[in-house]
Amino acid sequence: MTAVAARQDTYNDKVVRQFTVMTVVWGIVGMTLGVLLAAQLAWPVLNFDVPWLTYSRLRPLHTSAVIFAFGGSALFATSYYIVQRTCHVRLFSDKLAAFTFWGWQAVVVCCVITYPLGITQSKEYAEPEWWIDILITLVWVAYAVVFFGTIALRKVKHIYVANWFFAAYVITIAVLHIVNNLALPVAFDKSYVVYSGTVDAMVQWWYGHNAVGFFLTAAFLGMMYYFIPKQAGRPVYSYRLSVIHFWALISIYMWAGPHHLQYTALPDWAQSLGMVFSLILLAPSWGGMINGMMTLSGAWHKLRTDPILKFMIVSLSFYGMSTFEGPMMSIRTVNALSHYTDWTIGHVHSGALGWVAMITIGCVYALWPKLVGLKEMYSTRLIDVHFWIMTIGIVLYTVAMWISGLTQGLMWRAVNDDGTLTYAFVEALKASYPYYYVRALGGLMVVAGMWLMAWNMLKTWQQSRQWNEQPVLAVPATH
Ligand code: HEM
Ligand code: HEM
Repeated sequence: MTAVAARQDTYNDKVVRQFTVMTVVWGIVGMTLGVLLAAQLAWPVLNFDVPWLTYSRLRPLHTSAVIFAFGGSALFATSYYIVQRTCHVRLFSDKLAAFTFWGWQAVVVCCVITYPLGITQSKEYAEPEWWIDILITLVWVAYAVVFFGTIALRKVKHIYVANWFFAAYVITIAVLHIVNNLALPVAFDKSYVVYSGTVDAMVQWWYGHNAVGFFLTAAFLGMMYYFIPKQAGRPVYSYRLSVIHFWALISIYMWAGPHHLQYTALPDWAQSLGMVFSLILLAPSWGGMINGMMTLSGAWHKLRTDPILKFMIVSLSFYGMSTFEGPMMSIRTVNALSHYTDWTIGHVHSGALGWVAMITIGCVYALWPKLVGLKEMYSTRLIDVHFWIMTIGIVLYTVAMWISGLTQGLMWRAVNDDGTLTYAFVEALKASYPYYYVRALGGLMVVAGMWLMAWNMLKTWQQSRQWNEQPVLAVPATH
């Protein structure tokens, strides 16, 4: 057999394991930064009066590290793994896949260097300067070629639903990234975005909201639709529902962005449109959550012994909670209370830690033994410990932020009979402190869990000391 033919007989899992390792590395880095930020809010002295260590410069580094480095690496790893298994072919191009790995890591390293130096576009979740944006575009185009090229080569007619979610995310993120980052570079470290005023705000939040919808939601749903049935040993509860879920989700998400701009200079009708579409969004979100959960019908007993499944199911519960809370927060009168407060931060992290990080961690635990040629992780007990400290950490974090947010919102709006404010701003800040300590503790627990995971993965690898090359599975005769 020639070398090329031999390569076509196996899946390309090299790029999958590279991205999987970096998922854990960036998870630890990004979440540790989160703990530092939480600590800086509780103890401002931790800014050390050093410009590149200040909260304002490290905050975007945290968001980029957890969303794009940790979440992004997880999505590259799982989408490459899933598209090969469900299409029964090796990736379209090994070289391009390797380029996406090294290119994406280079993007992250550029962010790690430039943000603390204060070199950013100052657009939330789109901070990289113009030349990093160009590198992102190149990597993303290569990703699209590898992903869709693999689908084109598939040996089965049907395209499994997980791939639909990944496909929507690859296309949408490309469009969002290019439109939101159109800018005029004037120097290596400075560019001017082409939009201004309200239009700039609207484009930014059309981007920001759909980054949540397609990066932090649709793509992770793709992960969920493959790994939950695998882990539970059951087919998806309703395949028809998954297809309805897909079309409803992607068509409604696009219109909900204005809920980030309630009570601003945006026209009233646009704000109401954002609210209405956000409320409608509850239906497909819960449809997806129920579909995932019900996949466990007849296999609920497995939750007692399988902590990986626990990660996956609890992640869906957090998905359900945050997609109930989001529509509520988009109601203008509720948003008048929640906006600018820690309530938003609580909502963000019930979605980002509860849903995104938990489903990722569950999937990495399911994936890692396969990549090293073993049946299971080194220690199931440690996975269980990880599950509990992470769950308790997230509950501490989100509950603290909900209470803090409500306290802030209510104190800011309290007025005396004569119309003057009852509380000075600093009084509301003082009232938030106890919750900031609790959040820092919750965050520390989450990071401790990540270290347990890294240790467990290392021990698993040491048990086999080899990287598995799985053969491409033959297409079942029914196809
Ligand atoms: C140990 C875990 C984590 C800790 C301690 C943590 C902590 C923080 C802190 C202190 C902030 C700033 C809050 C503020 O400005 O008042 C923040 C913001 C943010 N974090 Fe985290 N975080 C963690 C994990 C994550 C993860 C895993 C994600 C995403 C997958 C994430 C996404 C975000 C986002 C999007 C924001 C900005 C929110 C906004 O602007 O409304 N975080 N985080
Ligand atoms: C039906 C689904 C959802 C709806 C309708 C929704 C709605 C909202 C609303 C109304 C806000 C507050 C905007 C403001 O006052 O500034 C918000 C903020 C946010 N949500 Fe959601 N949400 C949903 C699901 C999620 C999920 C699942 C995640 C994470 C995985 C998430 C991540 C965020 C982030 C990061 C922000 C903060 C943006 C910022 O200001 O920087 N959301 N969401």
